[in-house]
Amino acid sequence: MKNSLFTQFLRKPFMTGAICPSSPELAKMLVSGVGIETAGNIAELGPGTGAVTATILQTMPENGKFFAVELNSDVLAELQNRFPQLRVYNDSAAHLGKLIQQENMESLDLVVSGLPWAIFPPPLQDEILQAIYDSLAPGGYFTTFAYLQGVLMPNGMSFRKRLSRMFSVVEKSPIVWRNVPPAFVYRCRK
Ligand SMILES: C[S@@+](CC[C@H](N)C(=O)[O-])C[C@H]1O[C@@H](n2cnc3c(N)ncnc32)[C@H](O)[C@@H]1O
Repeated sequence: MKNSLFTQFLRKPFMTGAICPSSPELAKMLVSGVGIETAGNIAELGPGTGAVTATILQTMPENGKFFAVELNSDVLAELQNRFPQLRVYNDSAAHLGKLIQQENMESLDLVVSGLPWAIFPPPLQDEILQAIYDSLAPGGYFTTFAYLQGVLMPNGMSFRKRLSRMFSVVEKSPIVWRNVPPAFVYRCRK
């Protein structure tokens, strides 16, 4: 309970941005249609307590390389306990370029994000999106979710516009009503 997402939301609302972990249905939607089955190099941004991490590990190729980036040091111990094989950097997603170098990766085939975009100010959205775009291989995918109520917030709307300006293809998934709160996924291709 000490490090549940709800507790983290109470402690660090502007970093956590959610009171519940993503549902298994949303996690599946996040990794579908983005080539995870053949992705060589994968990164997850904002894994929190690992609701999506489990689905990535189940779906990715056995010989694929995978690491995660989580800013909140309070959840790291729980993540490492759940997934002892996972490499997690306690850092900001804005530093993704530096981290792929540390991983000896040239680029990423897939970036899976659990970041709370709608509560990020536009300059931070720009900084992190640019780091993601620069780290992706041509044809690589960026996949991220948005809560239904967040798309009407100014930052949610500006995030959608940024995606369309930056990526060659941006698709929206059907809404996952069984998630709390309901959410959908943006699948973006470089
Ligand atoms: C909405 S929670 C999602 C947790 C989990 N992925 C899920 O779907 O249930 C957002 C997570 O992003 C992390 N986060 C926020 N800003 C970040 C940043 N700049 N870099 C990396 N992680 C960040 C938070 O600490 C939190 O764990």
